Amino acid sequence: MTHPRIRLGVNIDHVATIRNARGGRHPDPARAAALAMSAGADGITIHLREDRRHIRDEDLEAVRAAASLPINLEMAATEEMLDIAMRYRPHAACLVPEKREERTTEGGLDVARLHNSVAPFVQKLKLSGSRVSLFIEPDIIQVAVAEAMGAPVIELHTGKYVEHVFAGQTDEAEEELERLRIAAQEGARRGLEIHAGHGLTYETVKPVAAITEIRELNIGHFLMGEAIFVGLEEAVRKMRHLMDEARA
Ligand code: PXP
Repeated sequence: MTHPRIRLGVNIDHVATIRNARGGRHPDPARAAALAMSAGADGITIHLREDRRHIRDEDLEAVRAAASLPINLEMAATEEMLDIAMRYRPHAACLVPEKREERTTEGGLDVARLHNSVAPFVQKLKLSGSRVSLFIEPDIIQVAVAEAMGAPVIELHTGKYVEHVFAGQTDEAEEELERLRIAAQEGARRGLEIHAGHGLTYETVKPVAAITEIRELNIGHFLMGEAIFVGLEEAVRKMRHLMDEARA
């Protein structure tokens, strides 16, 4: 049975983190977006945080102009961000938690608890033409609530799985992977498009990419770190290759 190719969204936030460490314009996230595109990225992900600790407002148009790829804007569910997103009109808008009290114990947006406050953001972003996703824990209650809120896409948080792998906790990592599989299947059964991401590396990407319901992975920090040693294009190409191998 053939499965659809899995897309790679490259998150370039941390190019801006390095730039901001010194002020000025170098390294330029827009240049990173262009390189990621030439190395086979399917999309560019950027997170405009409320505190602007990495991506800044002026980066939004510059990144769009540099790479003719769909932009996935990660954002908090706030009026300020909604206003920006409705003007910017990214291809995709992913609602993420920024404050501790918006998270589940593990780290995704706790849509089960925040349903009433987040649902209007989903509706408004959809009306403005962005494909809305909710960054949630791999938990079937969160998946059900995301569907009830009308989000067409969910992004499953892979952070816990990665942490267990690097802590050498093999059984816990396998349990978390199973939660990811079950949540992906449940989401697909409900007609949602399934994405995943957070903390993924060369070592951890394949078991996640092998979950056939997952259509897109968003990966940033590891790729930017690797780029310091091998260059961004090589890092993106290698990640792309591992993802394809997982689906072969
Ligand atoms: N997906 C979402 C929703 C995120 O918020 C992030 C981090 O900004 C990522 C994926 C990428 O995580 P990482 O940078 O650890 O690869």
